[in-house]
Amino acid sequence: MEYTEIETEVLIIGAGGAGIRTAIELDKHDTDCLMLGKREHGDAHTVKAAGGINASLGSLDPEDRWDIHAADTLEEGHFINQPEAVEMLCKNVPERVLELQDWGCDFNLTDDGKINQRYFGAQSYRRTCFVGDHTGDAIEQTLVDTAKERDIDYRENVFITKLLGSEAKIAGAFGYDMETGEFLLFKARAVVLAAGGYSHVYKRSSSRPDENHGDGPALAFDIGVPLRDMEMVQFHPTGMVKPEEKAGSLATEAIRGEGGKLYNSDGERFMEKYSPKQMELDARDVVARANYQEIMEGRGTEDGGVLLDISHKDEEFIKERLPSMYEKFKEYNNVDITEEPMEVAPTSHYSMGGVVVDFETGQTPVEGLFAVGEVTSGLHGGNRLGGNSLAEIVTFGAITGKHVASYVEDAPREIVDEDTVEDHIQDLQTLLERDEGHDPDDVMHEIQEIMWEHAGIVRTEQRLQEGLEKLEDVESKVKTMRVDSDITSRAFEHAMDVQFMLPVAKTIMKGALERDESRAAHYRDDHQDEREEWEKNILFKKTDDGMEMWTEDVPPMPRTIKRAVEEGHELDYHHLE
Ligand code: FUM
Repeated sequence: MEYTEIETEVLIIGAGGAGIRTAIELDKHDTDCLMLGKREHGDAHTVKAAGGINASLGSLDPEDRWDIHAADTLEEGHFINQPEAVEMLCKNVPERVLELQDWGCDFNLTDDGKINQRYFGAQSYRRTCFVGDHTGDAIEQTLVDTAKERDIDYRENVFITKLLGSEAKIAGAFGYDMETGEFLLFKARAVVLAAGGYSHVYKRSSSRPDENHGDGPALAFDIGVPLRDMEMVQFHPTGMVKPEEKAGSLATEAIRGEGGKLYNSDGERFMEKYSPKQMELDARDVVARANYQEIMEGRGTEDGGVLLDISHKDEEFIKERLPSMYEKFKEYNNVDITEEPMEVAPTSHYSMGGVVVDFETGQTPVEGLFAVGEVTSGLHGGNRLGGNSLAEIVTFGAITGKHVASYVEDAPREIVDEDTVEDHIQDLQTLLERDEGHDPDDVMHEIQEIMWEHAGIVRTEQRLQEGLEKLEDVESKVKTMRVDSDITSRAFEHAMDVQFMLPVAKTIMKGALERDESRAAHYRDDHQDEREEWEKNILFKKTDDGMEMWTEDVPPMPRTIKRAVEEGHELDYHHLE
């Protein structure tokens, strides 16, 4: 069986902000690495994080502090976050933001030259630094330019299909070149998984069309890394409603951060009844459920949305602060947001669950396998603050890169087991050669539909149980997909995606069934209260005959953060008005 072997010190799977920031840190420590992306350099999911990056710089609100940022993060996560990770994030991110500015990221500035900061949901102060409404894109480009200046190796069009090694130690990864079809075997002393989350196992998602199917968590799970809190999926309150091909794509929280108001079809500003104090800037789960309820109870628009209006602000202000939204709604909805409201509805946006890591090092329980960014779990607990994902990727990219550099100094190479490689190639060939079976696109849509209907914004035991049964039925289809084309086709790529989606979807469904309470992004209509005994994490690990599930207590909160929580900081929306 033919494949090309490539040897590197450190292999980074994923070239969004988390992967690139890790690579830059490795390079700073003179450690060679090879970064792999499915697409062109810079074409990564990070570009979708629009509204900003959180750092307690205090440019406009000097009372802000890192520990208040940490308290907000834990409160949003409903206290199932790993507190030491939250502390690391909030202490380190101001330096990372200033570093990005030094590297050329064009943050919006105040009149006196400080980095400007806007309000974002559930944050006590203006803490979100921004570049218009395309902050993720600006950060990704800054990181790509920095990586290119440093000549860091990047290979595009690579789809990783399997991690190699054992539960004890990583040896490398296997994949293929999506353009040429060549099989590729990568051997490395360390592998960094930076392959993103799983928001796209849902039908309506803010993700790009062919991304975020859960590759990262599924690859790690397959080699024996536990997954945590998979039921915690963030539904962003405001995705576009139409046209169909754009449904779910993001209408940034910055619209509400800059003063946008939500209305139902009766013209009622309904957040007054759901959250009279924090209004449209309450936590994402609260606003998403409010939008959902308005729509489900018949107070939505004909197309199944609610209305988000910022037209009371000056035209010039809107065009300066929300240029992409202005363009996007004009192009796709023929709506001028300086004059009319936008139609929006909840969309699956982010996965708080994922791979277990030690945040101080980025190390997973498999030696030599590291993980960083959305693929990991624990930082955001039950719900993520908007603006904390960009904060996470640069903070933990730097921390992980530094640690991996020291790890590989004396890490021996693990031998790749050739039989495993040959068996895996055989599986891929079988899939390619099958001449009868299910269309991968149909199977993918079936899983996405099941997840949306059965494990969506509002869940019940019965719906979850039915969903799980449906997923079990889908499993036989996943095993008998027919690609009907060659390895470079979209059909083959989608067949690979589907194989990652299935175990991820099952852990979401099982975790949501197990957690018989409502907490943060996980809402059970049949158990509407948050229960103290559930201040725990749910974990899954692959076994020979499926998966095992268990719970773990959350570590105690550091004293400084506890004090900040007790001080009771919170945003009073009406200060904005
Ligand atoms: O709405 C937004 O701009 C999303 C940002 C985020 O999820 O961090």
